Amino acid sequence: MSFFVVKPLSRIKGIVDLPGDKSIAHRAIILSAIAKGKTLVKNFPLNKDCLSTIEAIRKLGVRIIKKEKDFVVSGKGLSGLTKPKSPIFIEESGTTFRLFLGLLAGQSFQTTLIAGKSLSNRPMLRVNAPLRLMGAKICANEKKQAGKPEDYPPIVINGGKLKPIEYSLPVASAQVKSALLLAALYAKGETKIIEPVNTRDHTERMLKMFKADIETQGSVISLKGGRELESPNEVFCPGDISSASFFIVASIVLPDSEILIKNVCLNPSRLGVINVLKRMGVDIEINELRGEEFEPIGDLLAKSSNLKSTIIKKEEIPTLIDELPVLMVAASFAKGKSVFEGVEELRVKETDRIQSMCDGLKKMGVDIFVVKSASREDVVINGGNKLKGNEVRSFGDHRTAMSLIIAGLAADGETRIDDVSCIDKSFPDFLKILKNITK
Ligand code: S3P
Repeated sequence: MSFFVVKPLSRIKGIVDLPGDKSIAHRAIILSAIAKGKTLVKNFPLNKDCLSTIEAIRKLGVRIIKKEKDFVVSGKGLSGLTKPKSPIFIEESGTTFRLFLGLLAGQSFQTTLIAGKSLSNRPMLRVNAPLRLMGAKICANEKKQAGKPEDYPPIVINGGKLKPIEYSLPVASAQVKSALLLAALYAKGETKIIEPVNTRDHTERMLKMFKADIETQGSVISLKGGRELESPNEVFCPGDISSASFFIVASIVLPDSEILIKNVCLNPSRLGVINVLKRMGVDIEINELRGEEFEPIGDLLAKSSNLKSTIIKKEEIPTLIDELPVLMVAASFAKGKSVFEGVEELRVKETDRIQSMCDGLKKMGVDIFVVKSASREDVVINGGNKLKGNEVRSFGDHRTAMSLIIAGLAADGETRIDDVSCIDKSFPDFLKILKNITK
């Protein structure tokens, strides 16, 4: 087996412009496809997941053409999508799959969605259950998980004639919320979705931009269906804060380092990583905050800092769910005990990220363990000791791979990682950008 070798690094320094935000990009393509008029989607990230959304939308009869670095989507209106000729293969993109369930629930034709190996083992009942309440007919690969029924891909969905619902989400999930909002566009009447904790609100913001009849009051989102969406002509995908977080943590844990990250999406529902790092004593500045029409954008400047341990509360988790692996790396360098409360959702990501991060960091000498109670799982890290390079595994998970690379840069000795090709899922330019700032 060939390994990717990470050698310790003395410092990083530079300016980085990142590809567009993955969550925003998926939504931009989907909403543009069902809006009236053409939409230019700018700064679209060319990662595998987002390209899956483009391919899947094309299968529904929508014309999408590439124009230099951007994409032009010829919207077909709410009822203009057409039945695909064959099952749609979503590959490994969980966001595409779940958002598509909501979108297809509103269509008056049958579609089969199939997925790659890892996505075929990710739970879908959280989306299917409320969609069934709205009237969608959904057949899934049903299996028992911990004694309870669960839905997995492949999934056959017969949509159309939806009724509005009032639904309290049992799990805080932006994917589920967004799938229901897409379905609600097709339901006659007002759908209300109640979140247990607020999650990323890119769908709500973008729906407003596309002139949907949507309103948010605290944790309740209301959407009246049946109104056509209007293209805003252009949607810009600001830099992805999830991708930024790897370079931010690298600049913090390496000595004499500084990194300026330009044009990052600074949506408050995604800023958990910055809030936690500031609490840990990090020198991080937010510059030139520009209030864009639908998402705030600005530059981030992070520098080497002495890290203090912290407690991350369960309510904060949705604001930093994808940054947890790299925050675990940061906590490994922070003197004292850090606790990540209620992180059990990490078990159902591309891989079980509690297991993958505990495995990797333990091998690198970190005192990391899980405390399980009836209602939640906490990860505890007693940090502050120097990490030691070792042979570690990404378990095919992009965020585990990138987090362990950052850990390896600041460790003693060489770190060898089994598979880093998985990084292409969200951030194909990661290694290239990293190399540029290590010069
Ligand atoms: C996402 C929501 C989160 C996140 C995922 C992207 C989105 O998933 O982990 O990477 O774009 O809505 P959950 O909704 O499952 O928490």
